[in-house]
Amino acid sequence: MCGIVGYIGKKNAVDILIDGLKKLEYRGYDSSGIAIVDGTQLIVEKAEGKLQNLQNKIEGLSLYSNMGIGHTRWATHGRPSDANAHPHTSQNGRFAVVHNGIVENYLTLKETYLAGETFTSETDTEVVAHLLEKFYNGNFEQTVVKVLDVLEGAYALVMVCADEPDKIIACRKDSPMVLGVGDEESFVASDVPALLAYTRKCMYIEKGELCVLTKEGIVIKNHDLQPIEKEVHTIEWDAEAAEKDGFEHFMLKEIFEQPEVFKKTLAGRVQQGKVQFDEFTLTKEQISRWKKIYIVACGTAYHAGLVGKQVIEKLVRIPVEVEIASEFRYRDPMLDEDTLVIVISQSGETADTVAALREAKLKGCKVLAITNVVGSAIAREADYVIYIWAGPEISVASTKAYTTMLIAEYLLGVYLAQQKGVGEEAALTAILDGLQQLPDLAAQMLTEDYLAQIQQAVASYRDVNDIFFIGRGLDWSIALEGSLKLKEISYIHAEAYAAGELKHGTLALVTEKTPVVAICVQESTYDKTASNIKEVKAREARVLAIVNEGDNQTQKFVDSVLAIPKVHNFIAPVLAVIPLQLISYYTAKIRGCNIDQPRNLAKSVTVE
Ligand code: M6R
Repeated sequence: MCGIVGYIGKKNAVDILIDGLKKLEYRGYDSSGIAIVDGTQLIVEKAEGKLQNLQNKIEGLSLYSNMGIGHTRWATHGRPSDANAHPHTSQNGRFAVVHNGIVENYLTLKETYLAGETFTSETDTEVVAHLLEKFYNGNFEQTVVKVLDVLEGAYALVMVCADEPDKIIACRKDSPMVLGVGDEESFVASDVPALLAYTRKCMYIEKGELCVLTKEGIVIKNHDLQPIEKEVHTIEWDAEAAEKDGFEHFMLKEIFEQPEVFKKTLAGRVQQGKVQFDEFTLTKEQISRWKKIYIVACGTAYHAGLVGKQVIEKLVRIPVEVEIASEFRYRDPMLDEDTLVIVISQSGETADTVAALREAKLKGCKVLAITNVVGSAIAREADYVIYIWAGPEISVASTKAYTTMLIAEYLLGVYLAQQKGVGEEAALTAILDGLQQLPDLAAQMLTEDYLAQIQQAVASYRDVNDIFFIGRGLDWSIALEGSLKLKEISYIHAEAYAAGELKHGTLALVTEKTPVVAICVQESTYDKTASNIKEVKAREARVLAIVNEGDNQTQKFVDSVLAIPKVHNFIAPVLAVIPLQLISYYTAKIRGCNIDQPRNLAKSVTVE
């Protein structure tokens, strides 16, 4: 939530800030702003709405500076408006601040230190700028330390002082931030895509560390302002991966990237019929100790967890519970050293999932993370990490991260079974063989013809108000994901139901006005799902069914079908969700929705 960027060097900061904000707009897009120091004058420009509004506003102003900070906002405190947009400034106009996170004690801080001062916004962030002015003793660094000492909450903060224009100061606690090391220039940003065009050298910072960016380089200091050593990492993602590359939307591009990223998720992890992870090794004794597993995540990652439960329970025979992260930590779950907690998060920074991870560690559990972002909070704090290697996912609606999370879970399931010595070797090998086929099979699906079939199938969804997704077992898990995707980007109310559950109440809602998407891929439940489809057909619902290639039955009793290539049935969800992603995409498109940046949402949810 919220993207922040800072630059100091020899180039015009304005161009670099706007470019960086474009790359971070997926994090929030209700308003944006920049602050630069020109000579010793602080100049701030902000605009409500998309970044383009800010660009229009500054066009022709001939702004120039070698340093500055920028922000793109997802509102928490105060509605989207020019006044609430960041950067926020001190009363004397000498300090400017951009912030991602929440200052939880901002009301107390106002009363304690800033009584009588005039605030121009409804935000929590503005207190930080005012405190900088209040505590300033002629030394910017010391002043920032004093301010941090009184702040409570989560923050990534980047600050400038017009009286010390040779530096930018950045710090973080529980909100993401990455530093970019350039040649006579320094960068800071919420996420790597903002840096890729300029540098691949980056540093990650921890809570309590103060980063002083100058054009000569970056010095990281501790609370006593003593310099500390930091490892410089190389970013592996390539710059093109964060561009649309000719696709109309990032979402479509990311759907099309799936065959390639499947290869990356699998690469090197299956050797002579055995799964291995470079990142860690687990022994039979370690695995045997776990009597129970929790999978904890939010949104799409939670839906991936629902598949993970079925994978692990079937292959490893350890009971698994899947929990929404925002619920998990508040209900005093029964955790101990004999419990493994698996957290799943594309961004690795979702606040609720991070909090759940910490809760689990406090209770003595080992935590295994499945994530996409190297260096993210979740990657750093977990005991074991499986990277999904999906590359940057920019569209707010998650697609390739979901399917690669599923692949990571299948690999994990087979790995745990092999290490523990449970399950039939041939059955595990068949799953691994199936996984290896996924890149080619996914590529075979993504043809012009298939896209045309999907567009035809959803043409009638333009004006509907409600859609149901139904399925059983693994098909139900992906029905949940299909329904979330549709809600998120097309704004159509969608519900996913276990197909057998409809008749226990929800069938009352089914009419000719409620189309149904039925997933009938799992062979073991096919006959039962077919019966449930006939129940909704009897209520005149139009049914679009996702079926296996070669299924000549279903088309006889539904309105249209979309087939997926034949693959080992247990791993079919990875392919069966692809038409669901495309159904959402094309439905949103005919409804004229903003596909990559749906209303009210942001890519990374760093508030609880
Ligand atoms: O980064 P995470 O995987 O932790 O994000 C969790 C959810 O916020 C995310 O999956 C969200 O539901 C997606 N926008 C769905 O497409």
